[in-house]
Amino acid sequence: MNAHTIPELRYAMSREAIIGHETAWKVSSFGVAQYLHGYDPALLAAIEEAALKLKASHAVHKHLDLTFITGADRFIPEIKELLHDKLRLERLSDMMGTKLEPYPLSIVGSTVTFMNPNDGAVEWHCDGVPVTELIPLSISNPLVGGHLEIYCDDSETGRAILEAGREIPRNSVMRIDHKMNYATLGQFLGVLHRTAPIRFGERVTLVLNQRSVAKP
Ligand SMILES: [Fe+2]
Repeated sequence: MNAHTIPELRYAMSREAIIGHETAWKVSSFGVAQYLHGYDPALLAAIEEAALKLKASHAVHKHLDLTFITGADRFIPEIKELLHDKLRLERLSDMMGTKLEPYPLSIVGSTVTFMNPNDGAVEWHCDGVPVTELIPLSISNPLVGGHLEIYCDDSETGRAILEAGREIPRNSVMRIDHKMNYATLGQFLGVLHRTAPIRFGERVTLVLNQRSVAKP
């Protein structure tokens, strides 16, 4: 696929529309989008196979009820291929509206997440990295739950609701269903989001992190 063709979109929303106001920190006004990624299915299958083999020895389950292999490209060389793929970075940069590069610290550059009723999903949080791409490696059919939920308001307002022990109001949540062959790009720093708990089935996802070349 040409880097400069507009990919087929399933979802798209600006950062300001999500948060409800401008933010001082941002790499661009891009919020979130999901698009047909066109990545090599054999490469993704090899990454998943390697990740499943490493799961017992390398995956951790700690904060946010998430089970993951961090710095996954250290153990799965195929991930490096995608991480540094020029065409991929050009296309993500085009979508983001600013030039992106892989996040420099290998430990947070790439992660594989395992989500199912036992391994958990991921609770409400804001990311510590500027730009994240979520690439599904496998999604069971059926899958009950497991969609990305984005709180559409100021993250501090949402955190206060959670701190008070209340539920995030459903009418303030944007739901994004993951779909094979589609990746989700987001600027989730300062954006409260989670993966809804999975009640049945499982999802394995490759998470690649980027930052802007020009510091915001
Ligand atoms: Fe996140």
